[in-house]
Amino acid sequence: MNFQAPRGTYDILPEDQAYWRFVSEMTRQVCELYGYERIDVPVFEQTGLFERGVGETTDIVEKEMYTFRDRSDERMTLRPEFTAGICRAYAERKLHGRPQPLRLYTIGPAFRYERPQAGRFRQFYQVDVEVLGSQDPAIDLEVMQVAWQIYEAVGIKGLSFQVNSTGCPACRPGYIATLKAWYEQRLDGICGDCRRRYDQNPLRLLDCKRESCGKIAEGAPRIAKSLCGACDDHFVRLRSYLDALDRPYEVNHRMVRGLDYYTKTVFEVWAEGIGAQNAVCGGGRYDGLIRMVGGPETPAIGFASGIERIILTMKQEGIEPPEVPKPAVFVAYLGAEAKDVAVVLAQELRSAGVGAAALWEDRSLKAQMKQADRIGAAYTLIIGEEEVKNGVVMVRRMADSTQTALPRREVLDAVKGGGTA
Ligand code: HAM
Repeated sequence: MNFQAPRGTYDILPEDQAYWRFVSEMTRQVCELYGYERIDVPVFEQTGLFERGVGETTDIVEKEMYTFRDRSDERMTLRPEFTAGICRAYAERKLHGRPQPLRLYTIGPAFRYERPQAGRFRQFYQVDVEVLGSQDPAIDLEVMQVAWQIYEAVGIKGLSFQVNSTGCPACRPGYIATLKAWYEQRLDGICGDCRRRYDQNPLRLLDCKRESCGKIAEGAPRIAKSLCGACDDHFVRLRSYLDALDRPYEVNHRMVRGLDYYTKTVFEVWAEGIGAQNAVCGGGRYDGLIRMVGGPETPAIGFASGIERIILTMKQEGIEPPEVPKPAVFVAYLGAEAKDVAVVLAQELRSAGVGAAALWEDRSLKAQMKQADRIGAAYTLIIGEEEVKNGVVMVRRMADSTQTALPRREVLDAVKGGGTA
């Protein structure tokens, strides 16, 4: 029987781990630099949380969730994103009782039953950043800056922001009425999906990926003209901050994002050339979501970035992550007595914090030296019959192939200090 990884999933093999480690580490560093604290939420939640939070008529809820009944017959869903779970935690754990705004981040897998293609998977990893408890546009900018600085830290260039405002419950209904009235004359020209959107989720008419629908959407009335005073002021201030920082951005009136919880600011970061899925991150404000999942009225904003897309962009730009550290020392031995000494010596080194590898397979010295080269050890310790007899170890510095016989108790200092061998 041959098994295969499920469609849309992948294995992160050892040779790819350097990218993952680097992106996770840079994310952690940047988030801490801005004072964000790590939170972890469950991989699965009650299905209703996403139905309510993400929205019944979104693609995610309609066709992409991995939902199952557990053994108590409760409907559960593998998280398709983090925001709803973090808001649930905020309400349930009374995080609103802590000093506000609360700045949080997390990293982990999310699951969506999508059609796999470059940069789009069914299990993918997100870096997710959220600020709960502030309405200020300076916070919108801060969150966008966290994303930007993570990309900067991993070395990605040539990115730009796409920004828009989706209004609020005060001004959006008016805009939707205007939009529907405009589309009423054009229903014959739009696709079947868009006709459904017209009835169920009209804002999504604007971001249809079909070319013919896109052309129509280009001419649609713009939400910017329908924003209420508060939303307009918020958007103007955010843009003035972006201008002050000289960040490249484009106001994209067709960007409404695929999740229903957004209010006011929405944004994405786009990278050239990562295929159809060119958003490395997406996010926005969701001032009504916490209330909707049982918490107090709390404004909030955040974003999520697919780690696969960050790595894809890095690879396209030829960015290499730092190597994962390898053991500094390789221990080679010949003969049973030497092996006894080698086992103890290797352990002494590791206990003292010096990485040590060995084969333990009783192979030829040549095979062991080859392995030492492969792992890139700085030193190889060679113990043969002669060394056992004399109580010494041959310390070979790999960089220049010099060898020195040292008493066993001096070996640790020699390899630790980069020393005498
Ligand atoms: P989203 O736009 O659905 O937003 O996803 C955010 C990012 O996750 C995308 O820009 C992309 O990088 C990555 N992503 C999404 N789906 C896939 C997939 N199937 N394969 C690979 N990468 C993917 C959210 O998830 C919101 N929760 C973001 C947010 C946080 N809004 C406010 N706070």
